[in-house]
Amino acid sequence: MASYLETAVEIAREASALLREFSKRNVGFELKGEHDLVTAVDRASENLIVKRLQAEFPSHHIVGEEGGERAGSSDYRWYVDPLDGTTNFAHDFPVYNVSIGLERAGELIAGVISDPTRDEMFTAEQGSGAFLNGKQIHVSKVNRVEDALVATGFPSRRRHENVNVHFFYQLSMLSHGVRRPGAAALDLAYVACGRLDLFWEFHLKPWDMAAGILLINEAGGCCTNMFGGPVDLHGPHLLGDNGLVHQETVALFAEIFAGKYRHSLPELPGPADS
Ligand code: IPD
Ligand code: CA
Ligand code: CA
Repeated sequence: MASYLETAVEIAREASALLREFSKRNVGFELKGEHDLVTAVDRASENLIVKRLQAEFPSHHIVGEEGGERAGSSDYRWYVDPLDGTTNFAHDFPVYNVSIGLERAGELIAGVISDPTRDEMFTAEQGSGAFLNGKQIHVSKVNRVEDALVATGFPSRRRHENVNVHFFYQLSMLSHGVRRPGAAALDLAYVACGRLDLFWEFHLKPWDMAAGILLINEAGGCCTNMFGGPVDLHGPHLLGDNGLVHQETVALFAEIFAGKYRHSLPELPGPADS
């Protein structure tokens, strides 16, 4: 019998093929909230994934971004982001993925992040390591924020309340640079394989994080909230890093939370200077 991970990989591959197919047409988008895009692809992909999971594991609970919750009777709970990076997809900006994570009694046990544009499949199983297209991956060895390539994101929902710009600016000044690719699950997968050294974001949802957190942990990295406390799929923020820059990042975030900035914003030029 196929393992949970093998089945999830098969399903993620089918959903990725669907995304690839849809990317050739101009699908358009609707708004779920003021700036929160959704497309027919999000729904079609979730439909495929949920139907397949329900058929394979009828007693499992499923939490999908577009359809809410489907109750199950067992300890197993799937978190499904059928298209992570919808805004990118709608603009034909090729950074998006399918993300599927599995929790048993509150512990993450399997995760898949599939990138159809690069044909990359990131997989992890609790206690068995993390892999990219079948090859084991590890977090980077960078040990100072000064030498780190970092990433973050800004959710579309309630974006006027998001304080991340404070963190974005300080980290931009203190690291090799901050990327904002627009697909949180892939950002986490990139920390797991060492392309990035750390990632943080406010207000992510469980389906954005479940697979990626397991990938980072299994690749030797570290996931906590931005204060360094236990990671929480339902919590207000996430920090995922290679472990070596963790303490320094938590200390830096504590300063920023306290309003202490190492770098103040540069003065804007007045009309006479331009
Ligand atoms: C979004 C992306 C984005 C992140 C947002 C997420 P969606 O997911 O992951 O990078 O900044 O917080 O909501 O809506 O495209 O699935
Ligand atoms: Ca998402
Ligand atoms: Ca999504």
